[in-house]
Amino acid sequence: METINTPIRRQVIDEAINELQIVDFSRATIREVKAIAAKAESVSGVEFIKMEMGVPGIPPSSVGVKAEIEALRNGIASLYPDINGLPELKEEASRFIKAFIDVDLRPEGCVPVTGSMQGTFASFLTCSQCDEKKDTILFIDPGFPVQKQQLVVMGQKYETFDVYDFRGEKLRAKLESYLEKGNISAIIYSNPNNPSWICLKDEELRIIGELATRYDVIVLEDLAYFAMDFRKDLSEPFRPPFQPSVAHYTDNYVLLISGSKAFSYAGQRIGVSCISDKLYHRAYPGLTKRYGGGTFGSVFIHRVLYALSSGTSHSAQYAMAAMLKAANDGRYNFLNEVKVYGERAKKLKEIFLKHGFHIVYDKDLNEPVADGFYFTIGYPGMSGGELARELMYYGVSAIPLVTTGSKQEGLRACTSFIKDHQYQQLDERMSLFAKNHPVA
Ligand SMILES: Cc1ncc(COP(=O)(O)O)c(C=O)c1O
Repeated sequence: METINTPIRRQVIDEAINELQIVDFSRATIREVKAIAAKAESVSGVEFIKMEMGVPGIPPSSVGVKAEIEALRNGIASLYPDINGLPELKEEASRFIKAFIDVDLRPEGCVPVTGSMQGTFASFLTCSQCDEKKDTILFIDPGFPVQKQQLVVMGQKYETFDVYDFRGEKLRAKLESYLEKGNISAIIYSNPNNPSWICLKDEELRIIGELATRYDVIVLEDLAYFAMDFRKDLSEPFRPPFQPSVAHYTDNYVLLISGSKAFSYAGQRIGVSCISDKLYHRAYPGLTKRYGGGTFGSVFIHRVLYALSSGTSHSAQYAMAAMLKAANDGRYNFLNEVKVYGERAKKLKEIFLKHGFHIVYDKDLNEPVADGFYFTIGYPGMSGGELARELMYYGVSAIPLVTTGSKQEGLRACTSFIKDHQYQQLDERMSLFAKNHPVA
């Protein structure tokens, strides 16, 4: 479809795409979309509205920075951190889980990792070694593409389905169709979800938990966007409402808590993987055979994490401990700092909807999805790949959903880099887009 008056000449984008030798734009990675946007911006001088990257767009938590600097001044940089984790961080992580999820989990099972990325890598590895018949990880997609990359790197198998058509009670039969085969060691999903920002409800988490117990699989609950469902105020420690979690419905779980988004602390690579008390102490035949003994928790820490990085940056652990402690004590409302993402999403969605777009993952059962870090958009008659490419001519960059394991046609848009003057820009550009792409 040839249109003439696009904000960026088509040729500029086409050349940038050809330079990177991208044949199928629907498969373009985040880094490729970013590179094309940067190139087009410098050639055309037209500012891009960048929505492809999922990195925090606000300053790091000052509580963390202060604690980390102080720890460094005190000389901790010269010392290897305790492989089990800084005791104070373990203690505060355990309190945090009680305060914001209302679940009891002993400090012993709260293990610092260099971001949730390492948490999932170590979890995938450990889960895959428990039972040799269970050699496959199940993704409740859409999801964070790098986690599949982790499995490719370690040579492990995975299966996946798009949860779009399997919300609510429908999730049960769908999950069971995989679990009954007996090859699944673990189930992973994020909640709130990257990329769709759907939030699984308690009734869905109950289904996951019950089936995890029945089929003896481990649930890896990725809480990278902890409590960032801004429809409810989840910011009060030790008071409902709480962040929903599968931990209420099974003992077979690891909760992956990240410093990156909720505390804007992505650069320091810090998170906590929290292994349930029961799972921590459980021995598995596969682990005994491979390591000569040990439990899930001790293998996770003393074998896997020890081999990967011998622990987690010492100073970042002090930062995370201080942030969690301040939140637990009710002195620091971490959600206040990040709720701006929700405000941005609301405005951006309104603009897209006004110009004929629709929200792809639009509901949590009968409730509209929350406004948050990400949202998903589609346009009538266009595939995700076509839409992503077409929007580049209008100086708007986002990633096709297909790269996230979604079967829906559309894009993931991230709110983190949006600046105040860009709403008007977006409105003008999408108005032109709609004119150039009339819907029958
Ligand atoms: C769902 C999800 N999990 C994990 C991560 C990575 O978290 P971390 O920075 O703690 O490694 C991200 C980051 O974008 C994410 O979106």
